[in-house]
Amino acid sequence: MSTLVVAVTGASGSIYAQRFLRCAAKEFERVYLMMSDQALQVWRTELDPSITQGDANPERLLGVPCANITVLDRKDYFSPPASGSFRHAGMVVIPCSMGTAGRIANGISDDLVTRAADVCLKEKRPLVLVVRETPLNLIQLRNLTQLAEAGATVMPASPGFYHRPVSIEELVDSVVARVLQHVGVDQRIVPQWQVDQSE
Ligand SMILES: Cc1cc2nc3c(=O)[nH]c(=O)nc-3n(C[C@H](O)[C@H](O)[C@H](O)COP(=O)(O)O)c2cc1C
Repeated sequence: MSTLVVAVTGASGSIYAQRFLRCAAKEFERVYLMMSDQALQVWRTELDPSITQGDANPERLLGVPCANITVLDRKDYFSPPASGSFRHAGMVVIPCSMGTAGRIANGISDDLVTRAADVCLKEKRPLVLVVRETPLNLIQLRNLTQLAEAGATVMPASPGFYHRPVSIEELVDSVVARVLQHVGVDQRIVPQWQVDQSE
């Protein structure tokens, strides 16, 4: 069964999570979703002020039916992604705050997000961190280097402009498409450069 683990943390860019999860729900049989407390605060600020802490309901967050997304309690270490024996296609943290990146980089597994990421690194499973912060201080740069050295893919939320996007959604999708490719999805939401243009 193809399963993806997704974490949403409190960096700016809730729309990346929203659009990524809509695609992931179509591409994977099961998506395990974890949200940090701060992720919901940012979601409320950026996408939907009516979302409350008890509203971490995928259909409410994404606005589309998504029965195959299961939300996990971020303190439930008995849930599957906390264990190395649970097999899955990889984990994506989107967006990934500098706080979460720093904790993962330093092995601080103090919630399910950081524990599941820790497990990915030790089991050599894909771990994609869609980080967002600017500018980056030296501590953050060192943490990101440490993550890359440990096997994570550090994928800053920096959209491309060569497809000439005309909307925020198209800009966001240029990042979402690259993340999908890194967890093995043959995505079609954004054309491949100089391949799909000639089709
Ligand atoms: C509206 C808003 C936007 C934020 N944007 C960022 C950001 O882009 N990057 C970042 O690292 N932190 C950002 N923060 C700060 C994080 O939310 C904060 O460091 C938090 O402790 C992260 O917790 P988490 O990693 O458990 O989600 C933002 C906070 C707010 C309220």
